[in-house]
Formats: sequence, C-alpha cells, structure tokens
Amino acid sequence: MKIFITGIAGFLGSHLADAMLAEGHNVVGCDNLIGGYRDNVPKDAEFFEYDCNDFEKMKELLRGVDIVYHTACTAYEGLSVFSPKLVAENTYLNTVSMASAAISNNVKRFVTCSSMARYGTQEIVPFTEDMICKPQDPYGISKFSAENVLRNLCDTHGMELVIAVPHNIIGPRQKYDDPFRNVASIMINLMLQGRQPIIYGDGEQKRCFSFVQDDIDCLNKLAFQDNVVGEVINIGPDEEFVTINHLAKTIAKLLDFDLDPTYMKGRPQEVKLATCSANKARALLGYSTKYSLEQGLSEMIEYIKNRGTKPFTYHLPLEIVSDLTPKTWSERLF
Ligand SMILES: NC(=O)c1ccc[n+]([C@@H]2O[C@H](COP(=O)([O-])OP(=O)(O)OC[C@H]3O[C@@H](n4cnc5c(N)ncnc54)[C@H](O)[C@@H]3O)[C@@H](O)[C@H]2O)c1
Repeated sequence: MKIFITGIAGFLGSHLADAMLAEGHNVVGCDNLIGGYRDNVPKDAEFFEYDCNDFEKMKELLRGVDIVYHTACTAYEGLSVFSPKLVAENTYLNTVSMASAAISNNVKRFVTCSSMARYGTQEIVPFTEDMICKPQDPYGISKFSAENVLRNLCDTHGMELVIAVPHNIIGPRQKYDDPFRNVASIMINLMLQGRQPIIYGDGEQKRCFSFVQDDIDCLNKLAFQDNVVGEVINIGPDEEFVTINHLAKTIAKLLDFDLDPTYMKGRPQEVKLATCSANKARALLGYSTKYSLEQGLSEMIEYIKNRGTKPFTYHLPLEIVSDLTPKTWSERLF
C-alpha cells in the first residue's frame, strides 16, 4: 500500500515509517521541520519538506495514496496558553487541510493522532474513550475540534477514520533540545551536560511513561485492522506511575549524576495525575508493555550520547508573555 505520513521527521512519525517500510509498504511523508529532526526520516521513505497547511501541495502529494497517517502537530500543551495561534494552526488547521486533500484524492483511511488533552478535567481517572471530552487549553481544544471536523468530513464523504490517542510515549528520536516539551529527553540532555534539571511545582505530579517500541505496533495496526474504523483508542500505558521527582532520580541514577534539581513555580493548569486506560487497546490491538522505565531511559541516554548533547533552542514564538509565563521560557533558562 502507499502510506503518507505527516510529521515523518518527528518522533512517532519516523518510528511508524520504519514499521511500515519493514512490512513492505511504500512510504511517503512530509514535515515542515518546525520540530523533529531531518535525520529521523528513514532512508527508504520519500520525503518532502512541506507544511500540511499548504493545501495545493498536499493535494498533489496525496495522489494514489491509500492511507494517510497524520502525526504532524505542534504538540505543546503547556505552551498552548501562551502561543495559541501557533498551536491552533499546526493542530486544528493542518488537520482540516490534510482531511480535505485526502478526501479529494479518494484516500481510503485517515488515521489521526489526538491527545490525552482531549479529555481535560475529569472526575475519574484513568480516562476512558467513552468519556465526554472537556478540553481545558488551546491544544486540547484544537485536538478535539480536529477530531470533530474529521468525523464530520469522513461521515459526509465516506473516508474511514481512526483516532489514536497516544500519551506519555518516550524513546529515541524525541527532540531533546526543545525547551517546551519532552520532560525525560530534556532531563537527559541537561544531566549529560552536567546541568541540573528544572522541575515545575513540587515534582509530585504523577505520570506513567511507555517506551515507543511498546506502542508503535498498536499505532501501526490502526492503519490496517478492520475492527478499529470509527474508533477512538488510547495508546499508551496505564501502569507503573512515577512522579517527576522519581523520573529525575531514575535518570540521575542511570547517569551516576549528583542530583539537586531546581524547583520553579508550577505551570498554569498542569494536572497532578493524568492517565488513560489501555483496556480498549488491549482488547482491540493486543497492547502490552515489555520495556521497563529504566530500559526505555537507557536507550534514550544511548541515543542522545551518540548524537551528541545540544544547547536548547527557543525555536517557537511566545505570543503572550505575562506573569504567568514560565521563566524557563520567557528568560530562556535552559
Ligand atoms: N509522543 C507522545 O507521547 C504523544 C502524546 C500525545 C499526543 N501525541 C500526538 O502524536 C503526534 C506525534 O507526536 P510526536 O511526539 O511524534 O511529536 P513530534 O513533535 O516529534 O512530531 C511532530 C512532527 O510534526 C511536524 N509538524 C508540525 N506541524 C507541521 C505542519 N504544519 N506541517 C508539517 N509538519 C509539521 C514537526 O516538525 C514534527 O517533526 C502528534 O499529533 C501529537 O499531538 C503524541
């Protein structure tokens, strides 16, 4: 099959491309390189440095494509209250552009990546796919709006839709010089440079992380299995919760680093415990985790060591700077 992956230079997009190439598919992709790394793109994939919002180009590139896998996004939940225009353009608008280009080319299936931010504040954790979504920030609102417009267009024009909700996935190829996102990669990049990590709030907010190889199989199946059409499916772990303090300690232990983190004011609207149920993925996709947190972090350390540590680049515009803006961003502390 001919598969088109948006965001193919990104973390999940590039791993998906590898998985699909290994199965013998013809993989084509685009990325505007606002995030990701050019060298993430597998050599056997055809690559175009285009923006998904360039509708005419997308319409041209999607000729003869069977499946669109849409991962391209500026996936910045914390930043989205300070740079809402940037996030909406590359979360909501780019999805509308891709949907329109795909439908006009009779693409069979459109798999999109949503986010746990779609759920917003809920009374009950873990979040299950049937909950009423109450997104609380421009990123979550953009993701959920993108889902809604996709449903509308797919129902109207008869394109198959699958909505993946990846969450807390970590691994090699994550952008580690990005001060706005990817807590584990940021901590590793800092500690490998002999620098202390910065933790927002008291560090007792809990997350569960899973290693990319445990998730990519499930993400891949969404493009091909019949029983997932029309479904929303959480992809990621719901076991082995750790605090951000514990994450820092685990990385420090693996690096034999003398840890003394700097604590800063918590970020607005950051939730203490956010997690999604993996039961639907277990039932429909055979989801199970094999990697421990330590194993996953060790592979990330190897990747960053091999590629070389990097200074942080403040590559995204801060549209709103106020007393609420984390100083790590407004004063470029990383
Ligand atoms: N990794 C996770 O745990 C996780 C969690 C929640 C949601 N997601 C979702 O999964 C998807 C992939 O996430 P990721 O972690 O691989 O992110 P990533 O930042 O590594 O990859 C996204 C890629 O999209 C590209 N991109 C952004 N806007 C674009 C545009 N307008 N046109 C073309 N390319 C564009 C970026 O350059 C980047 O390479 C995203 O939609 C994200 O919201 C991931």
